[in-house]
Amino acid sequence: MSAQPQPNGPAGSRSDTTAHLDPHVVVVFGATGDLARRKLFPGLFHLWQAGLMPEKFQIICSSRATLDSPEAFPVMVLEAVRAFRGEIESEMWRDFAARIRFVAAPDDDYGDLAQAVRAALKELGSDAKSLFYLAIPPSATESVVRVIGTFGLNEGAKLVLEKPFGRDLQSARQLNATLHEVFDERQIYRIDHFLGKEAVQNILALRFANGLFEPVWNHQHVCYVQIDVPEQLDIQGRSEFMESTGTFRDMISTHLFQLLGFVAMEPPVRLDADSLHHEVVKVFRAIRPLDRDRVVFGQYEGYCDEAGVDACSVVETFVAMEVHVDDWRWVGVPFYLRTGKALAASRRTVTLGFREPPLKMFPGDVDTTCNELVLELTDDPKIFVDVRAKVPGPELALGRGRMRIDLQEAFPGSWPLEAYERLLLDVMRGDATLFTSTEEVELIWALCDPLLKDPPMPQRYPRASWGPADALKLPGERGWRLPD
Ligand code: BG6
Repeated sequence: MSAQPQPNGPAGSRSDTTAHLDPHVVVVFGATGDLARRKLFPGLFHLWQAGLMPEKFQIICSSRATLDSPEAFPVMVLEAVRAFRGEIESEMWRDFAARIRFVAAPDDDYGDLAQAVRAALKELGSDAKSLFYLAIPPSATESVVRVIGTFGLNEGAKLVLEKPFGRDLQSARQLNATLHEVFDERQIYRIDHFLGKEAVQNILALRFANGLFEPVWNHQHVCYVQIDVPEQLDIQGRSEFMESTGTFRDMISTHLFQLLGFVAMEPPVRLDADSLHHEVVKVFRAIRPLDRDRVVFGQYEGYCDEAGVDACSVVETFVAMEVHVDDWRWVGVPFYLRTGKALAASRRTVTLGFREPPLKMFPGDVDTTCNELVLELTDDPKIFVDVRAKVPGPELALGRGRMRIDLQEAFPGSWPLEAYERLLLDVMRGDATLFTSTEEVELIWALCDPLLKDPPMPQRYPRASWGPADALKLPGERGWRLPD
């Protein structure tokens, strides 16, 4: 194999980030699918381009489909990388492509694949690790996990799984039992790609690297929290997925609860996987049983006319809800969660509203809006604090002002990784901090099961709106921060 690209991304050299990465055989199941094409191949290539892949690695791609010419598979990978990452240098591509091969597993016959993985491990040396990425439908997960075990490929390997991790507590427990028959918990990496986003990790940085925020990050100073993830896109042809999953299982019991865990957790003793999971688990344990009367399900007008959707479908494409974390820090503070498809804007906004000062001492001050700390968790992250300030002039009149940090402006030349890239790198580093543990998954299902067994009927909402009227009223007089 030819020379490795030099790191051109994060500050420092390879030795900072990847010097100790063991050689890896990355095995992608579902390699002809959408996730592999949109995220995994472009992500792996980008890591390689940035010098963030291990010095020695191979990528073995597999699917049930047999290809007319498997040797042409790297060309399909190249097209995917170009489509999602733009043009690439041909010399660099040749070096990367030389490490990719396709091995079909027709009719669930994984013999050739197992042989290819063993051969690759042997070639890369005794410290080589395999990383199995299951980019496959949930119905296939358990059988593929068993196959890995049957061929004895689980030893020392890492397993990466995509959501959903079951669809209720019982199925999650069954899935976890199967996983644990073959893998130890420490070998399992459940991806929630929201946790790989730079901006989400910024919640940790803001809270625990500053003396300013953490002292007021509690019920004595905060009167509400909103975690708002509206999406403009509708289901974009994913009718089968939406009909079987719904927005609650797709977004709330996964991404939004994980965000809530990061916002609400106590300071961990260390920033490592065990300490963070310990704190997130405590938050999930403290969540009060969900109150069906404080949950609004919605469905956008025209959803039932989408191809592949049942004409009488009652699947929700929108959820807004109130959640309480009954612990010492958050008692009495409502957390409002909202997400949905075909809404007026696409945002990922976390807002903390602060209590008003105890005394209104400025004449004529009738403004009852709270100071708000707003975290925009976009790929171009920003943090705002909305405050009241004196309007310049002869009178002591108040107006609303804004303190703002634009992270890209603050750190020009910084080099963010896309969420999947960051998480793939973490798996290779063996760092499970940003992944979801078995305990978290089961606690969330235990919390959500009663609601999902008896969900509210979805209320219709117009496309490009902010959801059903009842959802708009949920946070009371102050309403939602968005639209702002
Ligand atoms: C996925 C959901 O996990 O996250 C999608 O299945 C959703 O329905 C997507 O649109 C949102 O992710 P992002 O990174 O585009 O905000």
